[in-house]
Amino acid sequence: MNLHAGSVSNFTATPPSVFSRLRQGVTEMDSLWDVGSLTDLSELIWTQLVQAEGNPGHPWRLPVLATGARSHPNARVVVLRGVTRPGFELLAFSDSRTSKVAELTKYPHGVWLFYDPREQVQVRAFSEVRLHMEDTVADTYWHRLPDGSRHNYLTEEAPGSEAPEPSRGRILAPGNAGRFAVIVGKVTRLDWLWLKPEGHRRAEFRRSGTTWDGSWLVP
Ligand SMILES: Cc1cc2nc3c(=O)[nH]c(=O)nc-3n(C[C@H](O)[C@H](O)[C@H](O)COP(=O)(O)O)c2cc1C
Repeated sequence: MNLHAGSVSNFTATPPSVFSRLRQGVTEMDSLWDVGSLTDLSELIWTQLVQAEGNPGHPWRLPVLATGARSHPNARVVVLRGVTRPGFELLAFSDSRTSKVAELTKYPHGVWLFYDPREQVQVRAFSEVRLHMEDTVADTYWHRLPDGSRHNYLTEEAPGSEAPEPSRGRILAPGNAGRFAVIVGKVTRLDWLWLKPEGHRRAEFRRSGTTWDGSWLVP
């Protein structure tokens, strides 16, 4: 099996949220998430998602992507490869032969689960998914990938196929983008939950064009 984590080993690095808190003079007792307005909260969620992309120390860089129609759920960790605003899209890369791509082809909806264990904040991003394979979008991202990362999408055998021994599989020559898939989730709804010691908080946001309609929920 190929992992696509790149340099995720620096998982314990200080998250950018801590730096921004220090810049804002927020003390240890306060939290970044202690915001009273729903507009500020949706803004903060998207700021954090943008910060997570490309930042190996950020806990939201490794979301769980859940797929599947009602009777066949599935879930796995992926690397968050892109966040667009105001498109409100989340991007991940994969091999086009994986189960997730097959599932998303059949049922193009995915839930991206982000969790920050330090802040005890969970965000579920519900999305409509489109897949890019052997098209100009896939080509653009493929050409931006460093050579070292391309081997993740270049095994001769499909990911998940049986191997006679522990093995990463036979790697094909670089240059072949045929198995590369870009997963784009257009977020339509967000569910935010904060396990705050003094009382948990939860909010939901539904996308309305380029803005988010929020409501507080009972956790
Ligand atoms: C830290 C980590 C990062 C991963 N990143 C990705 C990724 O970006 N894309 C991907 O397809 N699989 C990634 N994987 C592997 C998936 O979790 C999964 O095992 C694999 O893609 C097969 O999933 P599927 O059969 O459900 O498609 C990652 C796994 C780990 C542990």
